[in-house]
Amino acid sequence: MQVKVDRRRLEGRTVYIRPLDTSDAPELHRLRVTNRNFLAGFEPSRHDRFFHIEVQLSHIEAASEDWANDDGYAFGIFDRETDEMIGRVALSNVVRGAWQNATLGYFVAEVENGKGIATEAVGLTLEFAFKYASLHRVQAGVMVRNGASARVLLKNGFRHEGRSDRYLEIAGKWEDHDMYAITSEEWPGALRE
Ligand SMILES: CC(C)(COP(=O)(O)OP(=O)(O)OC[C@H]1O[C@@H](n2cnc3c(N)ncnc32)[C@H](O)[C@@H]1OP(=O)(O)O)[C@@H](O)C(=O)NCCC(=O)NCCS
Repeated sequence: MQVKVDRRRLEGRTVYIRPLDTSDAPELHRLRVTNRNFLAGFEPSRHDRFFHIEVQLSHIEAASEDWANDDGYAFGIFDRETDEMIGRVALSNVVRGAWQNATLGYFVAEVENGKGIATEAVGLTLEFAFKYASLHRVQAGVMVRNGASARVLLKNGFRHEGRSDRYLEIAGKWEDHDMYAITSEEWPGALRE
Protein backbone atom coordinates (compact mmCIF):
# COMPACT_ATOMS: atom_id res chain seq x y z
CA MET A 1 0.00 0.00 0.00
CA GLN A 2 1.41 3.37 -1.01
CA VAL A 3 1.41 6.10 1.64
CA LYS A 4 0.13 9.51 0.51
CA VAL A 5 1.84 12.36 2.31
CA ASP A 6 0.06 15.73 2.23
CA ARG A 7 2.23 17.71 4.64
CA ARG A 8 4.86 19.62 2.63
CA ARG A 9 6.22 22.46 4.78
CA LEU A 10 7.46 22.32 8.38
CA GLU A 11 8.40 25.39 10.40
CA GLY A 12 11.20 25.55 12.93
CA ARG A 13 12.53 28.41 15.06
CA THR A 14 15.01 29.78 12.51
CA VAL A 15 14.40 27.67 9.40
CA TYR A 16 11.64 25.94 7.52
CA ILE A 17 11.84 23.00 5.15
CA ARG A 18 9.77 22.46 2.02
CA PRO A 19 10.11 20.45 -1.19
CA LEU A 20 11.61 22.30 -4.15
CA ASP A 21 9.78 23.07 -7.37
CA THR A 22 11.21 23.95 -10.75
CA SER A 23 11.22 27.69 -9.93
CA ASP A 24 13.80 26.91 -7.20
CA ALA A 25 16.36 25.67 -9.75
CA PRO A 26 18.36 28.95 -9.94
CA GLU A 27 18.71 29.09 -6.15
CA LEU A 28 19.65 25.42 -5.85
CA HIS A 29 22.19 25.96 -8.60
CA ARG A 30 23.66 28.96 -6.75
CA LEU A 31 23.86 26.96 -3.50
CA ARG A 32 25.60 24.04 -5.24
CA VAL A 33 28.11 26.24 -7.11
CA THR A 34 28.93 28.38 -4.06
CA ASN A 35 29.54 25.31 -1.91
CA ARG A 36 31.27 23.15 -4.52
CA ASN A 37 34.66 23.15 -2.82
CA PHE A 38 33.23 22.85 0.68
CA LEU A 39 31.10 19.80 -0.18
CA ALA A 40 33.72 18.09 -2.37
CA GLY A 41 35.22 16.27 0.62
CA PHE A 42 31.85 14.94 1.82
CA GLU A 43 30.07 13.78 -1.34
CA PRO A 44 30.61 11.44 -4.29
CA SER A 45 32.91 12.94 -6.98
CA ARG A 46 30.86 15.31 -9.11
CA HIS A 47 31.38 15.80 -12.83
CA ASP A 48 31.44 19.42 -14.09
CA ARG A 49 28.01 18.84 -15.63
CA PHE A 50 26.54 18.40 -12.15
CA PHE A 51 27.02 22.15 -11.65
CA HIS A 52 24.92 23.12 -14.70
CA ILE A 53 21.52 24.52 -13.91
CA GLU A 54 19.74 21.98 -16.18
CA VAL A 55 21.15 19.14 -14.10
CA GLN A 56 19.96 20.75 -10.88
CA LEU A 57 16.55 21.26 -12.50
CA SER A 58 16.44 17.56 -13.42
CA HIS A 59 17.24 16.66 -9.79
CA ILE A 60 14.29 18.76 -8.63
CA GLU A 61 12.04 17.00 -11.15
CA ALA A 62 13.31 13.58 -10.07
CA ALA A 63 12.72 14.48 -6.42
CA SER A 64 9.10 15.47 -7.23
CA GLU A 65 8.58 12.07 -8.85
CA ASP A 66 10.13 10.33 -5.85
CA TRP A 67 7.74 12.25 -3.59
CA ALA A 68 4.70 11.25 -5.69
CA ASN A 69 5.82 7.59 -5.71
CA ASP A 70 6.65 7.45 -1.97
CA ASP A 71 10.28 6.69 -2.88
CA GLY A 72 11.88 9.69 -1.17
CA TYR A 73 11.18 13.09 0.38
CA ALA A 74 13.66 15.90 -0.34
CA PHE A 75 13.46 19.41 1.09
CA GLY A 76 15.26 22.70 0.77
CA ILE A 77 16.25 24.30 4.07
CA PHE A 78 15.22 27.97 4.10
CA ASP A 79 16.05 30.86 6.43
CA ARG A 80 12.74 32.00 7.96
CA GLU A 81 13.71 35.69 7.90
CA THR A 82 15.10 35.95 4.37
CA ASP A 83 13.53 32.93 2.61
CA GLU A 84 17.01 32.15 1.29
CA MET A 85 17.78 28.49 0.54
CA ILE A 86 20.67 27.56 2.85
CA GLY A 87 20.77 23.78 2.60
CA ARG A 88 19.09 20.56 1.67
CA VAL A 89 17.82 17.61 3.67
CA ALA A 90 16.35 14.41 2.25
CA LEU A 91 14.83 11.10 3.17
CA SER A 92 15.71 8.64 0.41
CA ASN A 93 15.51 4.90 -0.25
CA VAL A 94 12.07 4.68 1.38
CA VAL A 95 11.09 1.04 1.90
CA ARG A 96 7.64 0.15 3.25
CA GLY A 97 6.38 -3.32 4.20
CA ALA A 98 7.96 -4.69 7.34
CA TRP A 99 10.79 -2.12 7.33
CA GLN A 100 9.18 1.38 7.03
CA ASN A 101 12.69 2.82 6.80
CA ALA A 102 14.42 5.74 5.04
CA THR A 103 17.98 7.02 4.72
CA LEU A 104 18.71 10.58 5.83
CA GLY A 105 21.16 12.95 4.11
CA TYR A 106 21.78 16.70 4.43
CA PHE A 107 24.09 19.63 3.90
CA VAL A 108 24.17 23.24 5.04
CA ALA A 109 25.90 26.13 3.23
CA GLU A 110 29.40 26.65 4.54
CA VAL A 111 28.72 30.27 5.60
CA GLU A 112 25.76 29.10 7.70
CA ASN A 113 27.66 26.33 9.52
CA GLY A 114 27.87 26.35 13.30
CA LYS A 115 24.50 28.05 13.91
CA GLY A 116 22.43 24.97 14.67
CA ILE A 117 20.80 24.94 11.22
CA ALA A 118 21.41 21.25 10.45
CA THR A 119 20.28 20.21 13.93
CA GLU A 120 17.01 22.09 13.51
CA ALA A 121 16.42 20.88 9.93
CA VAL A 122 17.06 17.24 10.88
CA GLY A 123 14.60 17.66 13.77
CA LEU A 124 11.93 18.93 11.36
CA THR A 125 12.68 16.05 8.98
CA LEU A 126 12.20 13.52 11.79
CA GLU A 127 8.88 15.17 12.61
CA PHE A 128 7.93 14.76 8.95
CA ALA A 129 9.13 11.15 8.85
CA PHE A 130 7.34 9.95 11.96
CA LYS A 131 4.23 12.19 12.08
CA TYR A 132 3.39 12.64 8.42
CA ALA A 133 5.17 9.95 6.37
CA SER A 134 4.34 7.11 8.81
CA LEU A 135 7.91 5.81 8.79
CA HIS A 136 9.16 3.71 11.68
CA ARG A 137 12.91 4.11 11.30
CA VAL A 138 15.35 6.67 9.90
CA GLN A 139 19.00 5.77 9.42
CA ALA A 140 22.08 7.76 8.47
CA GLY A 141 25.66 6.85 7.64
CA VAL A 142 28.38 9.30 8.64
CA MET A 143 31.99 9.26 7.48
CA VAL A 144 34.15 8.43 10.46
CA ARG A 145 35.97 11.79 10.28
CA ASN A 146 32.74 13.86 10.02
CA GLY A 147 32.42 14.83 13.68
CA ALA A 148 29.99 17.71 13.03
CA SER A 149 27.50 15.45 11.26
CA ALA A 150 27.67 12.80 13.98
CA ARG A 151 26.95 15.53 16.53
CA VAL A 152 23.88 16.66 14.58
CA LEU A 153 22.48 13.13 14.74
CA LEU A 154 23.28 12.58 18.40
CA LYS A 155 21.62 15.88 19.31
CA ASN A 156 18.49 14.62 17.54
CA GLY A 157 18.40 11.39 19.53
CA PHE A 158 19.98 9.00 17.01
CA ARG A 159 21.75 5.91 18.36
CA HIS A 160 25.15 4.78 17.12
CA GLU A 161 24.62 1.25 15.76
CA GLY A 162 28.07 0.32 14.53
CA ARG A 163 30.59 0.84 11.78
CA SER A 164 30.28 -0.19 8.12
CA ASP A 165 33.64 -0.57 6.40
CA ARG A 166 34.10 0.92 2.92
CA TYR A 167 30.41 1.88 2.90
CA LEU A 168 30.28 4.75 0.36
CA GLU A 169 32.59 6.13 -2.29
CA ILE A 170 33.23 9.71 -1.18
CA ALA A 171 35.53 11.95 -3.24
CA GLY A 172 36.85 8.85 -5.00
CA LYS A 173 37.63 6.79 -1.89
CA TRP A 174 35.62 3.97 -0.24
CA GLU A 175 35.09 5.50 3.20
CA ASP A 176 34.18 3.72 6.45
CA HIS A 177 30.96 5.08 7.93
CA ASP A 178 29.40 5.08 11.39
CA MET A 179 25.77 4.00 11.21
CA TYR A 180 23.13 5.83 13.22
CA ALA A 181 19.39 5.19 13.52
CA ILE A 182 16.29 6.31 15.38
CA THR A 183 12.85 4.67 15.53
CA SER A 184 9.52 6.36 16.17
CA GLU A 185 9.39 4.98 19.74
CA GLU A 186 12.52 7.00 20.56
CA TRP A 187 11.54 10.15 18.78
CA PRO A 188 9.20 12.60 20.54
CA GLY A 189 11.31 14.79 22.74
CA ALA A 190 14.48 13.13 21.56
CA LEU A 191 16.30 16.46 21.03
CA ARG A 192 19.26 16.57 23.40
CA GLU A 193 21.45 19.40 24.58
C1 LIG B 1 27.63 18.49 8.89
C2 LIG B 1 26.86 19.76 8.63
C3 LIG B 1 25.51 19.41 8.01
C4 LIG B 1 26.65 20.49 9.99
O1 LIG B 1 25.81 21.61 9.77
P1 LIG B 1 25.67 22.77 10.88
O2 LIG B 1 24.45 23.57 10.53
O3 LIG B 1 26.94 23.48 11.03
O4 LIG B 1 25.38 21.88 12.18
P2 LIG B 1 24.90 22.40 13.63
O5 LIG B 1 25.37 23.80 13.82
O6 LIG B 1 23.44 22.12 13.75
O7 LIG B 1 25.64 21.38 14.62
C5 LIG B 1 27.01 21.07 14.45
C6 LIG B 1 27.54 20.50 15.76
O8 LIG B 1 28.78 19.84 15.49
C7 LIG B 1 29.80 20.42 16.30
N1 LIG B 1 31.04 20.33 15.53
C8 LIG B 1 31.49 21.14 14.56
N2 LIG B 1 32.65 20.66 14.06
C9 LIG B 1 32.92 19.50 14.74
C10 LIG B 1 33.97 18.54 14.68
N3 LIG B 1 34.98 18.68 13.82
N4 LIG B 1 33.89 17.48 15.51
C11 LIG B 1 32.88 17.32 16.39
N5 LIG B 1 31.85 18.22 16.49
C12 LIG B 1 31.88 19.29 15.67
C13 LIG B 1 29.33 21.83 16.58
O9 LIG B 1 29.97 22.37 17.69
C14 LIG B 1 27.83 21.55 16.79
O10 LIG B 1 27.59 20.93 18.03
P3 LIG B 1 27.12 21.77 19.34
O11 LIG B 1 25.78 22.37 18.97
O12 LIG B 1 27.03 20.77 20.40
O13 LIG B 1 28.14 22.83 19.57
C15 LIG B 1 27.63 20.72 7.68
O14 LIG B 1 28.92 20.95 8.18
C16 LIG B 1 27.73 20.19 6.27
O15 LIG B 1 26.88 20.46 5.43
N6 LIG B 1 28.83 19.45 6.00
C17 LIG B 1 29.08 18.91 4.66
C18 LIG B 1 28.06 17.87 4.23
C19 LIG B 1 27.90 16.79 5.24
O16 LIG B 1 28.82 16.41 5.94
N7 LIG B 1 26.67 16.26 5.33
C20 LIG B 1 26.34 15.16 6.23
C21 LIG B 1 26.73 13.86 5.61
S1 LIG B 1 26.37 12.53 6.73
